[in-house]
Order: sequence, then structure tokens, then C-alpha cells
Amino acid sequence: MAKSEFLIIANWKADAKVSQTEKVRDWLRRFWAELSGPISAKVVICPPFPLIYVLAQELARSKTLPLYLGVQNLSPFSAGAHTGEVTASMLKGLAGWAILGHSERRREQDESDEQVTAKVSRALEVGITPIVCLDQGYITSQIQGLKKVSLATEKMVFAYEPGAAIGTGRPETADNAQRLAARIVKETSARVLYGGSVTAQNAAEYLSQESVSGLLVGGASTEPVEFAQIVKSAQEG
Ligand code: PGA
Repeated sequence: MAKSEFLIIANWKADAKVSQTEKVRDWLRRFWAELSGPISAKVVICPPFPLIYVLAQELARSKTLPLYLGVQNLSPFSAGAHTGEVTASMLKGLAGWAILGHSERRREQDESDEQVTAKVSRALEVGITPIVCLDQGYITSQIQGLKKVSLATEKMVFAYEPGAAIGTGRPETADNAQRLAARIVKETSARVLYGGSVTAQNAAEYLSQESVSGLLVGGASTEPVEFAQIVKSAQEG
């Protein structure tokens, strides 16, 4: 898989540091001040749902901020009587990417391969690119689940996210990240990202791996200066 342009995803989760309008504006100011130059990587910010309009407005206002918008989840349903759901068609035109099947959701919300597959279908129906998170225990079952309903995995992005590395400050070794990313590339023909305790210090090492096409960044993406440094390492990589 050619690595023409790295994909760097900011997963803000429900982090209190980026949970309100003013904090988001401040994040953008500080991110841009640190970056101070063109962005050659594709950078996608995935805020909590209520902040998506704020970010969309800020980004539309500033032509100098070539950032894209994504979401951290979407509904497995298309529309209808599903209280509390945010459907893919509501997000059409607003978000270009959706992080789906994150291990935190598998653990806390009991998300299954089947539910993730349904969400991937809804995203693809409206032109949202799914970023499907995978860990060793369900790489094969999740990919088979997607293929079973004839979804084109090459149109998706996958993220190898080892559970033990997420939010722990104990990232996967670059060798293992490469090995698992290569396996996922082989099974899907898609771009594969690495995620799990990515920092400004270790980002370049992952990006230098042959099968790693970008990063899914959690904690470090809520810190605008550090996230800008990660984006810079993608330009240099
Ligand atoms: P982390 O999270 O960078 O805080 O480890 C990554 C993720 O959960 O996507």
C-alpha cells in the first residue's frame, strides 16, 4: 500500500480538556500557532458530537486550517424510532470519517463484531469512511464479518489498537505494530493506522514502518502543542 499521504486522527473521546466551545477554540489557536506552516498529512479531528458544529464553523471560517472532521461513533440504524441515536445520514456532509468499534466501546457498551459491521454499512451508505479499530483477539472475526456482508474492505481504514497500549503510556513496539499492520493490510487491502499511547516522541517511529499509513491518537491529541508536533513528524516522515 503506497503511503502518499499520512492520515492522522485525533480521538478526543470525552476528555474534559476539549469538552466545551471555548476550549475547542483555544485548542485550535494553540495547535495552529505551534504548527505554523502547511499541513501535508491529512488530519481528522473527531470531537464529541455536541462540538462538531463548533468545529465545522471554525474550520469553515479559517481557510488556513486544512483539518477534516470525523466522529467517534454512529448508529447501526438508518433512521426511525431509536431514542438517543445519531445516524450516519445526520452526519452526511458534516463528518467524513467515523471511528467504529473502538475497544472502549466494545468493553463498555458490549459492542460486537455484528454491531460494528452494521455501523460500517451505515457509514459507507452515506459516503463516510469508517476507521475500524482492531485488536489481536478480533482481527480475523471482524474482517470476516465485514466480508460476509460483501463490504469492500479496501474502501475502509483500519486501526491496529492493542488494548494494553490504549491510554496506558505503554505503547506497542514498532516491530509489533508493523507486523500486525502488515497482517491487516494483507487481509483487507486497506490503509492501516497504529493507535495506542502515541506521543510526539514515538510518532515518527511508527510512521516509518512500511505498513503503517498513519496514527490514531487519543490522549496526546487533546494537547494542541503535542498534537501539532505529531502532525509535523508526519510531514517529515
Ligand atoms: P491513546 O488512545 O492515544 O490515549 O492511547 C488511543 C485510542 O484510544 O484511540
